[in-house]
Amino acid sequence: MSRFYVTTPIYYVNAEPHLGHAYTTIIGDALARWHRLLGDDVTFLTGTDEHGLKIQQAAEASGMTPQEFTDSIAPKFSNAWERLNITNDDFIRTTEPRHKVAVAELLQRCYDAGDIELDTFAGKYCVACEEYYQDEELVSGPNGDDLCPIHQRPVEYFEEENYFFRLSRFEDRLLDWYAKHPTAMKPEHRGNEAIGLIKSGLRDFSISRTSLDWGIPLPWDDKHVAYVWFDALTNYLAAVGFGDESQDYTERWPADYHLIGKDIVRQHCVYWPAMLLSAGVEPPKGWAIGGWLLSGGEKMSKTSGNVVNPLDLIDDIGLDGFRYYVLADTAYGNDGDFTWEGLVSRYNSDLANNLGNLAARVATVVAKKCDGLGTAPNPDSPLGAVAATAFEQTAAQWDEVQPSKALDATWSLIRATNGHLETNEPWKAEPGPEVDLVMGDALEALRIVAILCSPAIPDTAQAVWERIGMPGKVIDQRLPDAATWGQYAPGATVTKGDALFPRIKT
Ligand code: MSP
Repeated sequence: MSRFYVTTPIYYVNAEPHLGHAYTTIIGDALARWHRLLGDDVTFLTGTDEHGLKIQQAAEASGMTPQEFTDSIAPKFSNAWERLNITNDDFIRTTEPRHKVAVAELLQRCYDAGDIELDTFAGKYCVACEEYYQDEELVSGPNGDDLCPIHQRPVEYFEEENYFFRLSRFEDRLLDWYAKHPTAMKPEHRGNEAIGLIKSGLRDFSISRTSLDWGIPLPWDDKHVAYVWFDALTNYLAAVGFGDESQDYTERWPADYHLIGKDIVRQHCVYWPAMLLSAGVEPPKGWAIGGWLLSGGEKMSKTSGNVVNPLDLIDDIGLDGFRYYVLADTAYGNDGDFTWEGLVSRYNSDLANNLGNLAARVATVVAKKCDGLGTAPNPDSPLGAVAATAFEQTAAQWDEVQPSKALDATWSLIRATNGHLETNEPWKAEPGPEVDLVMGDALEALRIVAILCSPAIPDTAQAVWERIGMPGKVIDQRLPDAATWGQYAPGATVTKGDALFPRIKT
């Protein structure tokens, strides 16, 4: 059994979960579900990032201690993921003891390797990014003040004695590592941006703070707490038991994929592998770098006031309608623009008209022409070859972490099956062997579609599975075998049920 370990970023708890967080989490969930279908031993991790100045300030503003504050927000994330049918195997909070142990271990290893040293730092800091900026990286505000290039808000001037991670020593080692792992970052254009960051020269970065205490103390100098990014990145190791002598973290490490947004590439694709190389830990096998889901042309954020709550959307469009939209509408790696019109049009075309319509018409014709009982597919059906190609392409696109393309490949089988029915018009023919074969083909295609679409729209996949009379759970099917043409068992009771995706009027 292959092991598959996939992570989402851990989300800052200064804001409640929004569409941008749901975006990455749903993609991680679908990828994890796909790998479970392949029979892999999957670990899917998500969680919350709870230390640092941003959280300390948010806690102060709400009149709570940081611990009370994070305790109040973290469950909003786990609850939201439950409602979105997210099948994470673990949820890590950076305030947990297992995480603190792992951070202390990683810090100590980098310190012992001589890659962490004390120095004085003076510079401009964006609290929203929890990141220092060089003057040339800043943008100029209306009053001539220096603004963060990502958040467009004023940076603060900090000067303090910090420990530094000697990132500058890692330029060649990182470039060598990436040269040996050329497909580690997906999609390629985002990977190239990360290589560009390394080639443009690496500066040491400070990994400790004395100006705040909401963090994890350095094991050798407890006047300092760990910089929030050093702390946060370590969650990926903490969750698999790093730093705990009773566990062997290498059973699940290195991770197969870190799913991240394009705004956190520097930390994940430059800092993180350098920290790991310093500590003698293997870097992850892959990173999948997504664009942003924009709302009104801007990144969704609390500061911009354009936050869309995913839970409101599922009330309006149904859980699977929402999950499908998130996965299918934007090529992973590119930015997508969220609009209600876009959501409805994607829902009506792919779900109501294609999948929903196919499931309904198959059940109707089987009821009328086959006594409501499923019939055997034609072993030589032209749909057999279409199904084989659809499976191969779906699998290849999930391998590339391209959910929209994987779903398009799955939908090619739905479109071809609707076409097959329209060519043969079984609703016009007399009941008999010919109609039985055409309907058997359609039922078999729906069986395969249900399996292939289950990572994206699991409830619907199960409903289709049951309506065509298949026993058990669709998620218990195993690929590639289950995708082989000809396994639909005739004689099963086919039921119509309510419309899977009632059309939404625009
Ligand atoms: N806490 C850090 C991550 C630490 S991981 C070791 C963080 N948190 S975040 O909550 O601000 O953002 C987490 C992820 O959500 C980022 O990858 C970010 O790109 C993503 N998104 C936040 N808003 C987004 C959109 N509007 N669209 C898509 N992704 C977005 O950064």
